[in-house]
Amino acid sequence: ANLIINASISRPIPETLFGIFFEVIFLLSIQEFDSHLEINHAGAGGIWAELVSNRGFEAGGQNTPSNIAPWSIIGDQSSLTVSTDRSSCFERNKVALQMDVLCDSKDSNICPAGGVGIYNPGFWGMNIEQGKVYKVVLHVRSPGPVNVSVSLTSSDGSKILATANIVDSDVSNWTKVEVLLEATGTDPNSRLQLTTSRKGVIWFDQVSAMPLDTYKGHGFRNELIEMLDDIKPQFIRFPGGCFVEGEWLRNAFRWKESIGPWEERPGHFGDVWMYWTDDGLGYFEFLQLAEDLGSRPIWVFNNGISHQDQVDTTAVLPFVQEALDGLEFARGDSNSKWGSVRAAMGHPEPFDLKYVAVGNEDCGKKNYRGNYLKFYNAIRSAYPDIKIISNCDGSSRSLDHPADYYDFHVYTSASNLFSMTHQFDRTSRTGPKAFVSEYAVTGKDAGTGSLLAALAEAGFLIGLEKNSDIVEMASYAPLFVNANDRRWNPDAIVFNSSKHYGTPSYWVQKLFRESSGANLLDSKLQTNSSTLVASAITWQNSDGKTYLKIKIVNFGNSKVNLKVSIDGLGLSSQLSESTKTVLTSSNLMDENSFSNPKKVVPAQTLVENADKDMDVVLSPYSITSFDLLT
Ligand code: AHR
Repeated sequence: ANLIINASISRPIPETLFGIFFEVIFLLSIQEFDSHLEINHAGAGGIWAELVSNRGFEAGGQNTPSNIAPWSIIGDQSSLTVSTDRSSCFERNKVALQMDVLCDSKDSNICPAGGVGIYNPGFWGMNIEQGKVYKVVLHVRSPGPVNVSVSLTSSDGSKILATANIVDSDVSNWTKVEVLLEATGTDPNSRLQLTTSRKGVIWFDQVSAMPLDTYKGHGFRNELIEMLDDIKPQFIRFPGGCFVEGEWLRNAFRWKESIGPWEERPGHFGDVWMYWTDDGLGYFEFLQLAEDLGSRPIWVFNNGISHQDQVDTTAVLPFVQEALDGLEFARGDSNSKWGSVRAAMGHPEPFDLKYVAVGNEDCGKKNYRGNYLKFYNAIRSAYPDIKIISNCDGSSRSLDHPADYYDFHVYTSASNLFSMTHQFDRTSRTGPKAFVSEYAVTGKDAGTGSLLAALAEAGFLIGLEKNSDIVEMASYAPLFVNANDRRWNPDAIVFNSSKHYGTPSYWVQKLFRESSGANLLDSKLQTNSSTLVASAITWQNSDGKTYLKIKIVNFGNSKVNLKVSIDGLGLSSQLSESTKTVLTSSNLMDENSFSNPKKVVPAQTLVENADKDMDVVLSPYSITSFDLLT
């Protein structure tokens, strides 16, 4: 087979091409919810570094008795009773936990050693690390003086990793207390305890524990965000997905409920994935994350349509106003109504929000077109520079409504996705551009993240690069899964409280990180094989050095001898700077895991014979990337 690259014919790839789609997926069935939280967390218990699960005691909603799980009781009926009431000082968040302590260290009913109280195991254990500092914030009220120990302990409470005492003579009104705890030991399965040995009634509400060290100090878990940083996402589409729609409109994500002080966010029950979220990771935090990653935010808002119900177009204006208010929140100056709310949250400068999607996967629903046009016209007139994304697929026929982009989603088998390398070859070049905002190999080809899936996705992405005159953005989905509750497979990044790894699909993303904004060169494969695809780009690193990057996917089961010829570009003879990176493995279904996180990862070697004519050998089932210094 031959690969002929002609560098004198080229065109720029859009700066936006490869980004990420973050959806707040954490799943929980109603039956499980009654007994224990069993959730697949990407947001809370995932990238959001909050350690306490159900910090307001209202996972069951605003009625009492509320569901306090996974909070549990330390002590027995003779030493304390625990209940919930609606006495909180937070108006939108009324549920508080009441603890009636019946024992006392100075009483005949002596409290057990260590006291009685409650503990929270976090999201399948809190990862507490020696030497790190954790900030605990809680709200407390009691008619009498309190003496409460706030501790981070091992999972059974037997080993104390950090502790502080709240001794207060007057908490007769709700009082906010903050303590810093420095851990003297490490345990990825720790818990937070609030205990006392003093008789009396104590109310707690809004209990938070977070590591002080978070990504750029903004509350995100460092190592997970660094995984994102490593793939240089050009945009971040958020917060969903089905999460935005809701099964029913009353349970859809509404941005106004997710901003302001965390204690005052009511949280909501997301009924598509069946989960409760306290919305600590809200609209503001997503915009902040995009800014911290240097990615363009793409906000998907609810368009008055859920999976089961829809607002009639004649009644959709409140939703339109909500979207306009959301844009003002992000972009308005700090004197504007909603811009001032953002400023009060610590971000006086506007966020750089220039893309919105009107709903998710709603095209074809009765009111979509009508509702869409209301949003389109209002946003176009108030913010002419904002790019508007329609849910309707315009790749095979023209849209019947105006849009800057159309959305395209595909979840399919490996062979289908690989053959979709040609999906956009014959798409019309006029009209809105394509945004492939969700794609992945799923089903048995994918397992929980196989090499096979990753190679098919690589073939598809090469097709997107080559069609990047029409496809301007693409993102893999979903991005994260907490390994304690895999409800959607596969995902790009797998984690638990203390560990994480990238699936082969993640590593493919990394091989494409230089593509956005690069120059696509004319390249032709001469071969009878239908299992080879290739592309060539030139890109500049941060020192201004230009590299030729050739990526070739061999989706076949035999090795391939390939003659590469490069015209119109000189290659440097500096050996140490040209590399070859290969992603492959001995078995097509090989996956990474916590015990073997690097089983299927790219392997890099130096290219010693970089030349304008090269003979290269491609391993069976592999993607090979040459980065040659020009
Ligand atoms: O990525 C998971 C889900 O797949 C998204 O929520 C939805 O948009 C799609 O159906």
